[in-house]
Amino acid sequence: MIKKAVIPAAGLGTRMLPLTKTQPKEMLPLASKPCIQYIVEELASCGIEQVLIITGQKKRAIEDHFDKDNELNSMLNASDQKELLQTLEFEDMNVQFFFTRQSRAAGLGDAINYAANFINGDPFIIALGDSIIHSEEPKPLLKRMIDTHHQNPESLIIGTRQVPLENVAKYGIVKPKNNENDAVVEIEDVVEKPSSQTTPSTLAFAARYILPASIFDALNRTSPGKGGEIQLTDGIRLLLKEGTSGFSVRLTDKEKRYDIGNMASYFEAFVDFALRDEKYGYQLKQYLYDNLNL
Ligand code: UTP
Repeated sequence: MIKKAVIPAAGLGTRMLPLTKTQPKEMLPLASKPCIQYIVEELASCGIEQVLIITGQKKRAIEDHFDKDNELNSMLNASDQKELLQTLEFEDMNVQFFFTRQSRAAGLGDAINYAANFINGDPFIIALGDSIIHSEEPKPLLKRMIDTHHQNPESLIIGTRQVPLENVAKYGIVKPKNNENDAVVEIEDVVEKPSSQTTPSTLAFAARYILPASIFDALNRTSPGKGGEIQLTDGIRLLLKEGTSGFSVRLTDKEKRYDIGNMASYFEAFVDFALRDEKYGYQLKQYLYDNLNL
C-alpha cells in the first residue's frame, strides 16, 4: 500500500506575478478553497497518510493552512456562527504533514530530491502543487494509477492526458509502446517539451506520478537539462533506460487537469470551480447569464 506522497510547492510562480509576490501560488483560491487543499483531499481519499510538502521562501501560509487553529475553532464554537466550523473540518483529515524547504528553486527534479529521507525506500506519489485533477469518474485518475501500480509493483506510473499537437512543447511527453489511445499503456521513453515535429505522441504528463525510491539515485546522476534545472523527466528517463518498466494512465473525458500556473488557465479553473460550487454556483451562473449578453 502506498502511504506517502510528496507535493512540490517551492517554485517561484513568476508567471502568476503579482499574485505570487508574497503568497504561495499553491494557496491561490479556486472558488472556496486554496488549490493545495483540493490536492491534499485527493491524496487523503486515496489512503495517503503522510504528506511531505516541499516549500521555500514566502510559502509559510501553506504550513499554517494545514495546522489546526484551536483559537479560531474555539472562537467560532462560542459564536453564533457555528456553521462556519464546517469550513475547517479539513483540519481533521487523517493526514500527517511534513515540510522541508528547497531554498533555491532549482527545478522540479531538485525539489523531489529533498524527499529522499522521508520516502525511505518505498514507492510514493508525487502530486504537483499547482495542478488539480477534477474527476467525475467512479474511480478517479490517482486511484486507477494506484491499481496499475498494484498490478506492476516495480513499475513507475505516470498520469497523462491527450493534448493538441501544437501544445506538446509545453509538457513532458510519453513515448508509448502501443496504442496511445488505450487507457493504460506501457511507456517506452519520455521526453521533456519536444517540438510538434519530433514528438513521439500527444500524451502529456498530467501532474501525478507514482515513482520507485530509485528515482532519487537517478536524479543524483542527472545533469541539469532545459533551463539549467534538474528535470524530473530526465530522472524518469534514466530509470526507464536502465530497465524500470513504466505505464501511462490516461485522464478520461470525464476528467480534467487544471493548472493554476498561468493566468489564462487559472482564470478558467476559478470559473469552473466557482460554477460547480454547491452554495454559490447557481448565483454565479445567473450573473454570467445576465451580463454576458449571450
Ligand atoms: P512550475 O515549473 O510550473 O512552477 O512547477 P514555477 O517554477 O513556480 O513556475 P514559474 O515558471 O516560476 O511561473 C510545478 C510545481 O513544482 C514546484 C512548483 O511549486 C509547482 O507546484 N516546483 C517547481 C518546486 O517545488 N521547485 C522548483 O524548483 C520548481
